[in-house]
Amino acid sequence: MSDIALDVHISPEKLLEDLRSDVRQGLTATPKWLSPKWFYDATGSELFEQITELPEYYPTRTERALIEAHALDIAERTDAAILVELGSGSSEKTRLLLEAGTKYGSLHKYVPQDVSPSALEGAIAQISHEFPSLEVQGIVSDFTDTLQNLPADGSRTIAFLGGTLGNLIPDERAVFLADVAEALVEGEFLLLGVGLVVDESVVVPAYDDAAGVTAKFNANVLSVLNGRLGADFDAQKFEHVALWNAEEEWIEMRLRATIPQQVHIADLDLDVSFDEGEELRTEISAKFRRDGIARELADAGFRVDEFWTDPEERFALILARR
Ligand code: AVJ
Repeated sequence: MSDIALDVHISPEKLLEDLRSDVRQGLTATPKWLSPKWFYDATGSELFEQITELPEYYPTRTERALIEAHALDIAERTDAAILVELGSGSSEKTRLLLEAGTKYGSLHKYVPQDVSPSALEGAIAQISHEFPSLEVQGIVSDFTDTLQNLPADGSRTIAFLGGTLGNLIPDERAVFLADVAEALVEGEFLLLGVGLVVDESVVVPAYDDAAGVTAKFNANVLSVLNGRLGADFDAQKFEHVALWNAEEEWIEMRLRATIPQQVHIADLDLDVSFDEGEELRTEISAKFRRDGIARELADAGFRVDEFWTDPEERFALILARR
C-alpha cells in the first residue's frame, strides 16, 4: 500500500508575511533585490521545468547523467532508509535515486520538501504510484527552516540537487550547510549537486536562452508581486539581464527598467521608483570550484566521500558524510 501525505510546515499566512518583509527590504535597498525563492508560483515552477529542457541549460541534464551513473553506488555507500530531498520541485531526477535505493533494498521512505505545493503534489502522486513500497511524506516549507522536523526512524540522506545551493548568498550558504550538518547524525549523508565554474560563453547562454524562456521566468516574479501584494508592475517595462560576475563567480539575473517609472505596492503601502536603466537583482546562481566547496563542506562538519563530475567538468555531484 502506498501512503500519500503532505505536511504543510509553512502556513500561507507565514509565506505571505515572509514575502512582504522580503519585498519591503529588497525594494527599498540600494541596489534593489528580490529573493529567487519568489519565482516559484505555479507558473514559475512550470517555466523552470521548461528551462531544464532548453539546449543552452546544461545543468539539469548534466546532473541527471551523473545521478544515473552513480545511483547504485550512492545507494550502497549511504545504505539510507530515508531520502530527504530539499527543494524537490518535480522530483524528476530523484526517481533514479529512488529506483536504486529500493532495488538495493535499504530505502523505505522519501521525504520531498518544496516551497511550491503545486509542484510537490504532482510529484508525490506520481512517485507514490511508481514506487508502491515507498512511504512518501511531502513537506511544504522553506528549505532554510525545514530541517528541524526530519523523520528519524532510520538512517538518512539529505539530497540538495540542481545547483540550488548557489542561489544562496555566501553567508546564507554557510548557515544553511551548518544547519544541514546539525540535522544529521554522524554517518549520515548529504548528496549535493552544484554547478562548477565554466567558461562565460557556456554559462551566460544557460541563463539567457535564445527562446526567451529564462526572460519570462525572470519577469514572472513581477506577476507574483502583482498577484500576491497588489503591486502594479508592468513587466513590459523591464528587460531580462544575465551577467557573469567574475569576481564572485556567480551568475546574476536582473530586471532592468527600460524607462523611468513608479510602482505602487498596495499591500505594503509602498511606492518604489526606478530610474531608466536601473536594475533589480532577482537571483544569484553561484558556481563552485572543487577546493572551495570541499572547504565549505568541511567547515560545516562534512567530509567529502565522493566528488563526481562530467567529462567537461560543468557540474559536480558530491557525496558528503557527516
Ligand atoms: C534553481 C538552481 C536550479 O540557479 O540554475 C534557472 C534556477 N534560474 N535559470 C539555477 C534558474 C535561471 C536554477 N536552480
